[in-house]
Amino acid sequence: MEKQQRILTGITTSGIPHLGNLVGAILPAIESSKHENTSSFLFLADYHSLIKNTDSELTHRSSFEIAACWLACGLDPKEVIFYRQSDVPHIFELAWILGCLTSKGLLNRAHAYKAAIADNEHNSNTDIDKGITMGLFNYPILMAADILMFNADIVPVGQDQKQHIEMARDIALKFNHHYEDLLTPPEAKISDITGILPGLDGRKMSKSYNNTIPIFADEKHLKKTVMKIQTNSLEPGEPKDSATCNVFSIYKAIASDTEIKDFQKRYDDGISWGDAKTTLYEKLNEFLSPYKKEYEKIITDRSYVESVLKEGSNKALEESSPLIKKIRRSVGIRGF
Ligand code: TRP
Repeated sequence: MEKQQRILTGITTSGIPHLGNLVGAILPAIESSKHENTSSFLFLADYHSLIKNTDSELTHRSSFEIAACWLACGLDPKEVIFYRQSDVPHIFELAWILGCLTSKGLLNRAHAYKAAIADNEHNSNTDIDKGITMGLFNYPILMAADILMFNADIVPVGQDQKQHIEMARDIALKFNHHYEDLLTPPEAKISDITGILPGLDGRKMSKSYNNTIPIFADEKHLKKTVMKIQTNSLEPGEPKDSATCNVFSIYKAIASDTEIKDFQKRYDDGISWGDAKTTLYEKLNEFLSPYKKEYEKIITDRSYVESVLKEGSNKALEESSPLIKKIRRSVGIRGF
């Protein structure tokens, strides 16, 4: 029998679910969870949220909303292991062990940390570590533990997370070399959609940039958001380049081939930005409304969401328990 391939991915629970999460992570993960020969580990990276903010209400609310979002989008909790990171303490235990193997120099090179340092330098701060927490610095180690605790083979992520998966690989190899061959070096699978799905300002759609299109906003709010997408100053009647257009790129991520072709023709014919945005808004509304309906149903039953996650944690713990036992023994933490 072919080996089951393990796919694992998580979403940091520090914001409301947005279109980038949906088309870049949630829908592809649900799709691939249906394939035979794969087992999927999908989780809420709720302790990662504390790296980004210290607003306890935000972390809590976002965890619930993102959980409900996965369920509304068709995740079948019987087919996958769906859990909260915080319900699996073994992850944090492993993070310590991995931290003790990871050289500080590796983490000095992490993009998120380097960007924070560069910001401080840019603002001429005398302390280049100003405002940088150990949580941010250790972020790649916690992420490595998320992945290695479940021996994941494949980690679907956006381009911006690729470096973290490479670090998880390095850390796994170091553990295996130094102690015992217990950890699977994972591979990143970069989603081409998150690579290209721009936010309102043309940068990658991300809650860190505050440029997202929310999935479950009401129609008025959705319309207002779409109208904010940055375009250029070409007049109606002037042909427009779809390849460099944020409105078009977002449309492309959710429309059918025929719809995309039609939209392209209207760009060639000089569609006005108002019409282009209205077309995108209508498409978004149509695309999102079935998910929205489900979501509204699910959020009325908090205990259902809780029970799904509890069951998921039990399954996750069944997987992590035997491995953490082996890891403890291997590093010399065992009874006399
Ligand atoms: N850091 C990821 C993000 O912000 C979320 C995440 C945490 C993750 N742990 C993970 C993704 C493990 C994949 C695997 O997008």
